[in-house]
Amino acid sequence: MRTRPLKVALLGCGVVGSEVARIMTTHADDLTQRIGAPVELAGVAVRRPSKVREGIDPALITTDATALLKRGDIDIAIEVIGGIEPARTLITTAFEHGISVVSANKALLAQDGAALHAAAEQAGLDLYYEAAVAGAIPLIRPLRESLAGDKINRVMGIVNGTTNFILDKMDSTGAGYQEALDEATALGYAEADPTADVEGYDAAAKAAILAGIAFHTRVRLDDVYREGMTEVSAADFASAKRMGCTIKLLAILERAADGESVTARVHPAMIPLSHPLASVREAYNAVFVEADAAGRLMFYGPGAGGAPTASAVLGDLVAVARNKLAEATGPGESAYTQLPVSPMGDVVTRYHISLDVADKPGVLAQVATTFAEHGVSIDTVRQQGRPDGVGKEASLVVVTHRAADAALSGTVEALRKLDTVRGVASIMRVEGE
Ligand code: HSE
Repeated sequence: MRTRPLKVALLGCGVVGSEVARIMTTHADDLTQRIGAPVELAGVAVRRPSKVREGIDPALITTDATALLKRGDIDIAIEVIGGIEPARTLITTAFEHGISVVSANKALLAQDGAALHAAAEQAGLDLYYEAAVAGAIPLIRPLRESLAGDKINRVMGIVNGTTNFILDKMDSTGAGYQEALDEATALGYAEADPTADVEGYDAAAKAAILAGIAFHTRVRLDDVYREGMTEVSAADFASAKRMGCTIKLLAILERAADGESVTARVHPAMIPLSHPLASVREAYNAVFVEADAAGRLMFYGPGAGGAPTASAVLGDLVAVARNKLAEATGPGESAYTQLPVSPMGDVVTRYHISLDVADKPGVLAQVATTFAEHGVSIDTVRQQGRPDGVGKEASLVVVTHRAADAALSGTVEALRKLDTVRGVASIMRVEGE
C-alpha cells in the first residue's frame, strides 16, 4: 500500500461537487483500500469563496482554478463546473500539467469530446465521464468495457429525469404540460429556465456521447436530431392510452440494418405499456441496450441529483487513481468504425397522426390516397365525430406501418394542402414494438 496520497483538485463545488467532497471524506479509508493509496482533496476551486461549505477545510478553497492545476502536485482533477467554458480550458490545462481528469460535463463532452480525448491520449492521461450520462447509472463503462466484445445495435433510453417527471405526471393525472411543468419546478426537478431539459438539448448531448461509445464512431451534438416535448398534450396521452401506450421523451440510437451507418435522435414517442421503459416513473432514467450476443439489457436508476451523480464521479476517481498507480491509462476514444450519421429522413419507424378533417363523403379515401402516394402504409384508422362539429368535422387518427421519416413528412405536407384537412393536430412516432 502506498502511503503518499494521490492529490485531487475539485473544480466546482455545487450540488455535485459538495457531495464528491463529502464522500471523499466519509469514505476515505475504504477508498484508500480500494485504490491502494490514499486520495487527498488538495484544493477546491469555486466561484463564490465566501459561501459556507460544511465539511470542507476553508484553507482548500480557491477562486483560481488555473493556479491550482499549475501548482505541480495535483494528480487528478474532478471537473463538476458544467458548461463549455471555463471547463474546457481547465481540462486542457490539466492535461498540459500531467493531470488526469474526471468530468461530469455532458455538454462539453458532446461538443468537444474528440478534441479532449485526443489531448488526453497525447499526454498519456485519462479522461473519464461516467457521471455525464444518466447520473448514478453505470452506462459508459458497461458500454465501453463490459460490452466491448459484443456488437451493439440499438440504444433506447430515458436520459432526462425532468421531462420524465413531467410526462409521468401528465400520464398519471391527466394534467396538461404547463401544469405538470409547474409541479416539477415547485418540487425542484425543473430549473427556473427549463429549456435545456424540455427542448431535448440535455438528452441530445447524452445521446451524442452514448452513440459514439456504442457504435465506436464519432457522433457530434449537431448530428443528433432533436425535438422537445413542450407540444405533447393531454389529448396525445388520451390517444396513447387508447393504443395501450404511454409517451416518453426518448433518445434512440440505431445502427442501420446494413451496418453502414447510424442514426441518433431525441423526440417524444409513444411506447407500449408492455415495454420496460414504459414503467420508468417520476424522475428516474433508464436505458435499454440491444446487442448481438448479450440480447436486451436495461440499466435503470436515478439520473440526476448530487449524491447519485457523485457516486458515478467517485467510481471514475477510483478507476483513474488505480490507473495512475499502475502507470497506465484506461480506454480512450474508440471511433475506428467511422460510420456516417444518417439524417432523420432515413429513420424508419411507425407514426400516430391525428388530423382534424371535414366530415363528409370521400374524405377518408382522400386521406388514405395521400398516404399511399407517399409509400406510407396505414395500419389502423379511427374516426370520431367531434362534439363541437357534429356532421361537419371529425378527428381522424391514423397509425402507420413502418415508413421512412422523409416519406411521412412528405405525406403530412400533402395532407396539410388538402381542403378537407382542417389541421394536423399531432404527429408522434411509435417506438418499442
Ligand atoms: N437536468 C437533467 C435531468 C439532469 O433532468 O435529467 C442533468 O443532466
